[in-house]
Amino acid sequence: MSATNRRSKISVIGAGFVGSTCAHWAASKELGDVVLIDINGDAAKGKALDLFEASPVEGFDSGLQGGSDYSLTKDSDVVIITAGLPRKPGMSRDDLLATNSKIVKECAQNVAKYSPNCVLIIVSNPLDAMCHVALQASGFPRERVIGMAGVLDSARFRSFIAMETQTSVEDVQAFVFGGHGDTMVPMPRYVSVGGIPLQQMLSKEKIDQIVDRTRKGGAEIVELLKTGSAYYAPAASAVQMVESIVRDKKRILPCAVLLKGEYGVNDLFVGVLAKLGAKGIEAIPTLELNAEEKGMFEKSAGAVKGLVDDMKRLGLN
Ligand code: NAI
Ligand code: 2OP
Repeated sequence: MSATNRRSKISVIGAGFVGSTCAHWAASKELGDVVLIDINGDAAKGKALDLFEASPVEGFDSGLQGGSDYSLTKDSDVVIITAGLPRKPGMSRDDLLATNSKIVKECAQNVAKYSPNCVLIIVSNPLDAMCHVALQASGFPRERVIGMAGVLDSARFRSFIAMETQTSVEDVQAFVFGGHGDTMVPMPRYVSVGGIPLQQMLSKEKIDQIVDRTRKGGAEIVELLKTGSAYYAPAASAVQMVESIVRDKKRILPCAVLLKGEYGVNDLFVGVLAKLGAKGIEAIPTLELNAEEKGMFEKSAGAVKGLVDDMKRLGLN
């Protein structure tokens, strides 16, 4: 990785909307050579070739390959799993449980076979449950199985705050805790806009509206697209995590992490702040939560537990 002179290798499993957009951002940022894998191998190969043919125009040096054969992914540093069905209008993330757990299991097993030392970033929904599937199927330690949802939910939160305060998105610091579902926990008490606490800029009513819109941010896009779910912001979010890992930036980002006692939660993937570097999760800084935040966080962890219990009952994990 960064300790050697070779380029990093990033594989993306699932070459649909999110996966191919991940490949686009990762290659154009020159984070490493990129491999796209899909059950539809020709589509993956075609998208990789098409993206490579954009590189002379855009001026980026990243190798691109695609197909259905996991041997292409051999010795990847980071692998993003996006394979699975996306949400359709009226469908909840939980509806995806049975189908996507089988897909994610197969993908994680194949990834682990060819890249036993990689860091896995899970994107497929229902996100927190799919992290459990990937952890078990890969046999990796918790430091190397990380769910992407918090960066996306926080990006939505930050976007809505910037819209409402009419300030630059760059100046909005904000994060969301909890599971990737309706019970997610945006944290207005920790928001700053250029260093100014949000409570000094907006009324409680406005902040509550933004929190509510953030919780429904995924559904808002689904309702508009009608045939699938969001992909630009999800892919940008996954690639921000990749960048922190392959460049060993040690950024503190909201991620789904297997908690082992942190925040009073055991053996559940829940969104919290984590430090991401070359080894994957390098620290889980613990934030002080007030009684209201703690209550919402526990409720959200409870929703994740419900999904994990459902998977056990259905023999899915
Ligand atoms: P998509 O339908 O465009 O792409 C999914 C791809 O997975 C397809 O190309 C399909 O052929 C491939 N696939 C299916 N089974 C496979 C297998 N066994 N092996 C390899 N590839 C396989 O869907 P999209 O929009 O890219 O979304 C992908 C997933 O990401 C969905 O589950 C969606 O809900 C989830 N998602 C999660 C987000 C998050 O915040 N965690 C945000 C956005 C999407
Ligand atoms: C999202 O939040 C569908 O989980 C996906 O956009």
